[in-house]
Order: sequence, then structure tokens, then C-alpha cells
Amino acid sequence: MAMAELSTPKTTSPFLNSSSSGLRLSSKLHLSNQFRHLLLLPPPLHATPTSKISCSVSQNNQAPVAVQDNGSVKTKKECFGVFCLTYDLKAEEETKSWKKMISIAVSGAAGMISNHLLFKLASGAVFGPDQPIALKLLGSERSIQALEGVAMELEDSLFPLLREVDIGTDPYEVFQDVEWALLIGAKPRGPGMERAALLDINGQIFAEQGKALNAVASPNVKVLVVGNPCNTNALICLKNAPNIPAKNFHALTRLDENRAKCQLALKAGVFYDKVSNMTIWGNHSTTQVPDFLNARINGRPVKEVITDHKWLEEGFTESVQKRGGLLIQKWGRSSAASTAVSIVDAIKSLVTPTPEGDWFSTGVYTNGNPYGIAEDLVFSMPCRSKGDGDYELVKDVEIDDYLRKRIAKSEAELLAEKQCVAHLTGEGIAFCDLGPVDTMLPGEV
Ligand code: LMR
Repeated sequence: MAMAELSTPKTTSPFLNSSSSGLRLSSKLHLSNQFRHLLLLPPPLHATPTSKISCSVSQNNQAPVAVQDNGSVKTKKECFGVFCLTYDLKAEEETKSWKKMISIAVSGAAGMISNHLLFKLASGAVFGPDQPIALKLLGSERSIQALEGVAMELEDSLFPLLREVDIGTDPYEVFQDVEWALLIGAKPRGPGMERAALLDINGQIFAEQGKALNAVASPNVKVLVVGNPCNTNALICLKNAPNIPAKNFHALTRLDENRAKCQLALKAGVFYDKVSNMTIWGNHSTTQVPDFLNARINGRPVKEVITDHKWLEEGFTESVQKRGGLLIQKWGRSSAASTAVSIVDAIKSLVTPTPEGDWFSTGVYTNGNPYGIAEDLVFSMPCRSKGDGDYELVKDVEIDDYLRKRIAKSEAELLAEKQCVAHLTGEGIAFCDLGPVDTMLPGEV
């Protein structure tokens, strides 16, 4: 997926500003509170008119708490601006029968993809109109001002479902108790940078974030890796999080699925909602395999509807594999809006039951798959969900010789990538031998 802000792990808390003289705000919280005063916001919903609530930091470097000036202390960790105002959630939950709040971490939160995604999450478009959420935004030191800007725009949007916004640069703080982690931040490949170097640099970020998730996230956290190379980053992340089920980790290939559906719809002259059962096999790279053999248009096999089979094998396949690159040529940067939409689709596919007979694609850990694909990789495959956040592989998809050959190529690429990052997955010494042609991201030309 498109690259966003790089987040560098820190050893000290970014939220805390320890001071021997007592409680103090970190500079970024201070700014947001100033901003709040400037806006002359009314007192919080359930506070008395004279009560004032502010974010502060306890003397012994504990997490910040929201303190009311009547002396009572509400337990509230790092918070941003208006989200530091604590009000009586319980009463409101009861009257509106809203669900229990869920906590979602987003890395690369100051980047373009996140800028589209966060507002969809906060609006209820992803988890539903009765699901309050907390957003935990991870950025880098370099992006902290931008992160504040994002948080301020979230404040100004007055989303009823958005109950908390925290910003920070330390994954061990930001990932505390999160139930979803959307890992978007990664370093973009610079001019002349070897792909092996990219794997190493980004791999280190995902190793660190895996460790942080392992240490502080909810034990059943669902993790969606978007930062490229997303399959191998997801593998690194899960290897560094042994306490979290490997099944909970995904690499985003939903963007490729959406692109494939669109191309088939265009060729068949139908609207894209008529295309179903679209599998992307393998790596989110130019070796990915968009499966036209098993996809359907209006319930019929694609090959019956589109009789130009040469186009399917060549034109269609390549157009999906290289769509990201074409977009970069047009935009001058990676896709952001459509990536954010595909993240929404990927999450919704896990939290809503899959329509009867259909499936969706996601990069998942290979562990006992029926297709003979090497174990211990993150590989995109067809899946179904009951809507409980979990998924099952679809096990009876037909694979012909054409598909088998193509899938094997993507598998070989992922095995090579895995060798390059052995030092980050705890599997010994890395050995990196990546061919120059078959190891491109969709955006690489
Ligand atoms: C995409 O598929 O659009 C991105 O992954 C492209 C890229 O390489 O950033």
C-alpha cells in the first residue's frame, strides 16, 4: 500500500513531561488545551457549570489523568484536547443502547491514507452507528505537529461516536489495550534504495510494533498491515508477537481485490457490484494473482461472460498488478483515498457476515492451507467471516495450471523476502537474493 509516516520507537514516554515540581502537561497537550480555551467551549455535558477538567500528568510518571477541579480524579490516560473532557458515558450508553467502546490504533496517522481513514472510522461508517470508538494515533517525532492537526480536525468534527483521541510516538503507549491495530506507517522506498534495504528498514519498524502489541495490546487484537511490503511486514509483526494468535494478522490485499473487480466490470460492461468471488492470491506486489477463473459476474463464471481469454490472462492480470504504479504516475504519489476505502472494506468483511456463496481476499498466515502453499508466510487467499472479527479460509476453490504457475511465482517471491528478514523473525541470519524484476511493489516502475 501507499507509504505514510514513519514512526520511530522511543524509550521514554512521549506524553510525559516529568517535573520535580509536580504536575505538568506535555507540550502537545498544552497546545490543544490552549486551543480549547480559545474556542471558549462550554462546560462538558455532565459537569457542573463551575467544574473544569484538564489533562495532566501525575508526578511519578504514571499515565496522565483527567482531573476535575472539585478534587475528583477520573482515570483517563493520554488524551487530546476536547477528548480529555470526561462525561458520563454510562448514562449515555444506557439511553442510546450503544455498544461498549472499542479502541483502534492507527500508525502513520499523520499520513494521507490515515487522513481519509480516520474520519470514516470516527463517523461510524466502519464499525457501525452504535459503536463508540477511541482512536490512538501513532506518528513520528517529525510528524507530531501534523498529528496534532489531525486530532484538532477530529475535535472540530464533533463525531458523536468518537470518545477518545490520543496521540503519541511510542507504540508501547499508543497500543495499550487496543482491539484493532491498523499499521499504515512505513518508510517509502527512496531513489536508489535497494529493496533489501527497504525490507530491513521497514521490517525493523514492524518488529518493534509487533513487540509493542504483544506487550500491551488486547490479547485478541486484530492487526491489519498496510505499510509496504505489507505481506512480509505482517509476517515480521506476528513473529514478534507470539502471544497474539497468528491468525489475527492480515496484510491488506483488499485494494487489489477492488481494483480487479473494477477492471472486470469495465470489460464486461456491468456495474462493479455484479462482480463477486474475487480472489487475489499471494503477495501485494507485481507477482500477485487476480483470479479470474473463480470470480463471477452476475453469478456466472467470468470466462463465460468475458470470452477474450487472452485479455484475462495478460491485460487484466497486468492492469491489476500495476494499477498502483499507474496511479503514482498520474498523481505523483501513491493511492491514498482508495487505499483507505479498501481498509474500511477489509475491516467490514471481518465484522459483518460474508454474503452466502461469496468471499473476500486478505493476506493471512499460512498454517494448514489446502492449496499446498508454503507454510509460515503471509499470503493472500479467499476467506469468509461470520462477522465476529475472525475468518475461515475458503477451501474448495479450483486452481488450474495457469493459476498454479502464477501462484508459485508469488510464493517464491515471498519465500525470498522471508529469507531477507530472517534476522527480524528470529530465524537466524538473513540471506537476501531478490531478483530485480519480480520483486516490485505495485507502485514501483
Ligand atoms: C498501491 O498498491 O497503490 C501501493 O501499494 C503502491 C505503492 O507501492 O505504494
